[in-house]
Amino acid sequence: MKHIAYSRQSIDESDIQAVAETLKSDLLIQGSQITAFEEALKRYLNVSDVVVVSSGTAALHLSYLALDLGGTTVFTSPVTFAATANMLHAVGANIRFIDVDPQTGLMDVDNLEQVLKKTSSHKSTKMAIVPVSLQGIPINLPAIDNLAQYYGASIVEDAAHSLGGEYVCDQQVYKSASCSHSDLAVLSFHPLKSICCAEGGAVATRDPGLANTVRLLRNHGLMRQENSYLRTQKLWGYNYHMTDLQAALGVSQLKRLPFFLSKRKAIANRYYECLQGEPYCHFLTPTPKVLGSAYHLFVVHFRSKEVRDAAYIFLQSYGIETHVHYVPLYKMELYKQWLGEFSLPGAESYYQGCLSIPIYPDFSEEDQDYVLEILAKFCNQL
Ligand SMILES: Cc1ncc(COP(=O)(O)O)c(C=O)c1O
Repeated sequence: MKHIAYSRQSIDESDIQAVAETLKSDLLIQGSQITAFEEALKRYLNVSDVVVVSSGTAALHLSYLALDLGGTTVFTSPVTFAATANMLHAVGANIRFIDVDPQTGLMDVDNLEQVLKKTSSHKSTKMAIVPVSLQGIPINLPAIDNLAQYYGASIVEDAAHSLGGEYVCDQQVYKSASCSHSDLAVLSFHPLKSICCAEGGAVATRDPGLANTVRLLRNHGLMRQENSYLRTQKLWGYNYHMTDLQAALGVSQLKRLPFFLSKRKAIANRYYECLQGEPYCHFLTPTPKVLGSAYHLFVVHFRSKEVRDAAYIFLQSYGIETHVHYVPLYKMELYKQWLGEFSLPGAESYYQGCLSIPIYPDFSEEDQDYVLEILAKFCNQL
């Protein structure tokens, strides 16, 4: 039977060569490939600083530490991968989940504004916002930035899904993770993301002070004194280094990013075209099309959880892997214990119907046909 993953990395000969060459070099960690990858990401995002680390989770952790979010009230989305909020817990922040748009799963800015207004009436509350550019769709950062400036909150964009995504503000195009409307942005180079380092992540910023703190924290918080073996313990940090092998893969993959994005866009456009026709259009709706999406995921919505769950099992029986991104985090046992039980209507509605169907650069036309055929079969038997 066929097996079609919902997503998959794309590795070619140039990627393999880049890693193999680095294996022969003197330094496998903290070497020239780290600098090369950071410089390439800086140029791509047009930011002053990028610090590459061992994972997106490490990048979140260090961003939250650099902003000193312990004790801070942090507004984030419940529709995200656990790491976004888990790392807030790790630094001792007070999490407040903000409801999402039921169609896109992105944080609802009106809802955020209402909650910020209420919270800011308690005068001494320190606040931060961690919006997530879910599915590859850049979140409305200009609107969030306006609110953040008004209410005195800092912003970390979780851009783990959206490297390559773009948004427009005042007729100017901005890249997701360019920190044009945020203090810090976090990237992930997990195999299924826009580019793959096997594991890896990065923190981007335009603030040299924050960049220095992240750099220090990546290396145990230790700073070497010039012309000396002595080191000063500046902060309590971690070993969150990316290896040079991963960075070499990152440099090679970043060169291929435009190709990856064009392939993802072409597949998404094909889905949009086909799914508005028979028989799909009566049973499922794709996430509204957003120009500038990096199409990390392609999410369709069924009319109920029962139908979505049946679709998941039906497609699986034909060898097609799909996924639910995500079960809202407040439904998880640990979060219930920690924050109490509640639910948010937008997040519930999004979660009940959502299903991520396959999209990735090397997804062949033949396999796309197969997925569409089996999806039609499912719809026809409803
Ligand atoms: C939205 C989001 N944030 C953060 C992360 C964490 O990234 P990593 O897996 O590189 O630690 C992920 C990974 O899946 C993610 O999807």
